[in-house]
Amino acid sequence: MIKNDLFLKALRGETVERPPVWMMRQAGRYLPDFMKLKAKYDFFTRCRTPELATEITVMPIHQVGTDAAILFSDILVVPQAMNIEVQMKPDFGPWLPNPIRDRTSLDQVIVPDVYEELGYVYEAIKMTKKELNDEVPLIGFAGSPWTIFCYCVQGQGSKNFDKAKEFCFTEPQMAHELLQKITDTTIAYLKGKVEAGVDAVQVFDSWGGMLSPVDYQEFSWPYIQQIIDALKDMIPVIAFGKGCWFALDVMAKSGASALGVDWTCSGRNARYLSGGNITLQGNFDPSRLFSPPKDIKRMVHEMIDEFGKDKYIVNLGHGILPNIPVENAKAFVEAVKEYK
Ligand code: CP3
Repeated sequence: MIKNDLFLKALRGETVERPPVWMMRQAGRYLPDFMKLKAKYDFFTRCRTPELATEITVMPIHQVGTDAAILFSDILVVPQAMNIEVQMKPDFGPWLPNPIRDRTSLDQVIVPDVYEELGYVYEAIKMTKKELNDEVPLIGFAGSPWTIFCYCVQGQGSKNFDKAKEFCFTEPQMAHELLQKITDTTIAYLKGKVEAGVDAVQVFDSWGGMLSPVDYQEFSWPYIQQIIDALKDMIPVIAFGKGCWFALDVMAKSGASALGVDWTCSGRNARYLSGGNITLQGNFDPSRLFSPPKDIKRMVHEMIDEFGKDKYIVNLGHGILPNIPVENAKAFVEAVKEYK
């Protein structure tokens, strides 16, 4: 049904003439048209207005030519729906004025009716699907429970999420309670996205790499596994763990359709650690997009040679940086389309 189905083929592990390409955070601040809307509407207004979310989602499809769209939204709409206040402060990032660090605040966290609290996301998906007209697939996403937990407890971004980790080791029972509430909400939220029409979902464990391999298996992975178990028979699931190369063996056996990797793990090593059979996605260092376009193209071809063209989705190893020239983002995508 979808005209360009390279991305879905790669998720099914089918042979393709070239790998598909999209970029994490592709609907973002490096696009001048995005900046025009950012100047007019604050962050959560853009997320909550289906017309705006749709317009932003399709921008990179038309302007950069990626093989998949990812819905413009944010992972932090989930804690917002759970009765946790989340603000997006300009030039600062996420700000949660009442972080969850004790029994009283934990008890105020709810598992919401996602259709009531997050209906605007489902509206945006339906509108975007219409606008995309089956040209390319649409990816829906959520943060991993651990990554959402990091923001809920820390209250803001952090280089080490020290307060979030402190809570895990001083109040492990409460930590697990919060992680389970986030997981239950996320499963319901993603099922709603599937009903609304997304073609695949990605779970972003952006801060999984903050944990030791042993603690990752306690505080992050089991909750992602619950999400995969609940969704894998409905839709392909991609699990992206930044800095989580040490868990690729377990992740490969999870039922996920693909695993995202960042640039600290080579393609060769990622294939080895994941057992060689599962589709991998990644892992261009976003900073490398500052190189001249001809160098970007060479590096992309080298990357595809290393991962192999099949069971592979070309992507960055994390989100695109705001000050990347659009021409360079285009060179990244064109390089994949020129690959032979
Ligand atoms: O990928 C896409 O283009 C789809 C949209 C998307 C956004 N956030 C839009 C956004 C996605 C998939 C996310 C996920 C997200 N949000 C993650 C996981 C992926 C990752 O990058 O690690 C995380 C950790 C967040 C939380 C978040 N949202 C932070 C830390 C920030 C501020 C830092 C920053 O980059 O500015 C945001 C804000 C945000 N979310 C922006 C965008 C385009 C930029 C702010 C703005 O537009 O006003």
